[in-house]
Amino acid sequence: MQDLISIRDLDKKEIELYLKEASRMEKMLSSGQLSLLKGCIVANMFFEPSTRTNMSFQAAAKRLGAKVLTFHHSTSSTAKGETFADTVRMMDGYADALVIRHSMEGAARFAADLASNPVINAGDGGNQHPTQTLIDLYTILKLKGKIEGLNVTLLGDLKHARTMRSLLYGLSMFGAEVTLCSPEQLKIDPEIISEVKEKFGAKPTQTSKIDLAKCDVLYVCRIQKERFSDPYEAERMQKEFRVDLELLSNAPKNLAVLHPLPKIDEIPPELDSTQFAKYFEQAKNGVPVRMAVLYRCIRG
Ligand code: CP
Repeated sequence: MQDLISIRDLDKKEIELYLKEASRMEKMLSSGQLSLLKGCIVANMFFEPSTRTNMSFQAAAKRLGAKVLTFHHSTSSTAKGETFADTVRMMDGYADALVIRHSMEGAARFAADLASNPVINAGDGGNQHPTQTLIDLYTILKLKGKIEGLNVTLLGDLKHARTMRSLLYGLSMFGAEVTLCSPEQLKIDPEIISEVKEKFGAKPTQTSKIDLAKCDVLYVCRIQKERFSDPYEAERMQKEFRVDLELLSNAPKNLAVLHPLPKIDEIPPELDSTQFAKYFEQAKNGVPVRMAVLYRCIRG
C-alpha cells in the first residue's frame, strides 16, 4: 500500500509505471475485466467542490469492482465542529483508501500521517494535484507519442493553480521545453522554477505574451478566484487572457489545447468543436489513470 500526496514523491520510473498501468486499465475497460478491487471500499472525502476528480475517482473505483463511500462535508459532523483529524481517523476505519481534497495546503500529507490506509491527494489548496498531473502526462503521451522536447506553454493563473505547479514539475522531469505565460501578477512561485532547474536542468521561460508559433501543447487554466482575497481583482484578471479562434488562427494545425477544467471565460465554447480542443478527452482519461492510482495505492 502506498500514499500519493505529491508528484515530487515520485521519480520518473514510478510515473512511467503509473502511465503504463493506466494504459493497461484503459484496454481492460474495453474488454470488461473489472474486478481487481472487488471487496474494497474507497472513501471520497471532498472538502472543496469538484466534478471531475470526485466523479472520475468514483467511476474508477466502481470500474475496478470497489464500492465507494461519499463523504459530504456539509452534511457530516464536521458541520458540528468535528476536526479534520478525527474525521480522517473515522474514515480510515471504514475504507481501504481515502481520496481527499481540501483547501488547506498539506491536508493530504497530514491525513496520510494519521491514516493506516493509503491516502490519495485529490488537491490540497494551491499546492499539489498529483493525479491531475498523471492525467496530463498520460494525455500528452497519447496525443503526441512523447513528452521530451515538446514545446509546452502553460497559460493562466500560474500563481494559484495547483495543477500548474504539479505539471511544471512533471514536464520538467520528462524533458519538455516549458514556457510559462501569465499576467505579471500571476507568475508562478519562483521557488518552483529554481527547483526544476536544479533537479532536472530545466530552463522554463517566462513571458506575458502568448506566442504559439512553435507550440505543441497549450495548457490553459482558469483564474482561481477562490484563492484571491479580492474577488474584484479576480474578475479583472479573468479578462487578461482568452484563447479564442482569432488567437489560434496562426497556431500549428496539430496544436493540442488542454485544460484541467472547469473552464470559465478563458476558452469560449466555439473552441470546443475545433481540432485543437483536447480537454474533454483529457478529462475522460481521468478514469483509467485514477484506476491505475487506486490499484497501485491499494494493492501496491
Ligand atoms: N481538474 C479538476 O480537478 O477538476 P475538478 O475541480 O472538477 O475536480
